[in-house]
Amino acid sequence: VLSSEDRQLIQATWTKLGPHMDKIGGEALTRLFCTFPQTKTYFPHFDLSPNSKDVQHHGQKVVKALDSAIKHLDNIRGTLADLSDLHAYNLRVDPVNFKLLAKCFHVVLASHLGGEFNASVYLAYDKLFHCVADVLSEKYR
Ligand code: HEM
Repeated sequence: VLSSEDRQLIQATWTKLGPHMDKIGGEALTRLFCTFPQTKTYFPHFDLSPNSKDVQHHGQKVVKALDSAIKHLDNIRGTLADLSDLHAYNLRVDPVNFKLLAKCFHVVLASHLGGEFNASVYLAYDKLFHCVADVLSEKYR
């Protein structure tokens, strides 16, 4: 559960990422496909070369979803309800992959936030990614 301190840390650092917002999703996906190549099987119709147009464009969609979750931390479930159905029923993404993507986002956040990405900020985002992954994978149960 996100504490009020976690929420503040997320919202403050997320605002600072503003100028990089368009590219962090693509960077995270590029890391995902490079580090965990098995994740590529979900995107047979994409050009998955590093930072390709497909990867960047899809990254922007993912970040937009994270942005709305961050703007509605009290109602992540409601905010991501459609995506939950999509990932479970249509895409059938194995929930383990959400953990892999979260790892990649942590590295990207650290690369942009530098020293500001301290242990407390890491913990706050870790909890956030857990919440998001829970919502996106709960329809499997
Ligand atoms: C599509 C968000 C994790 C596979 C999408 C879309 C969004 C999204 C916003 C576009 C939906 C639309 O076009 O209406 C997220 C978020 C994630 C996440 C917020 C976790 C933080 C994953 C993971 C995988 C995955 C881990 C698999 C490794 C896909 C696929 C599509 C998709 C295959 C469809 C791509 C297409 O054909 O356009 N996701 N996703 N997602 N996602 Fe995710």
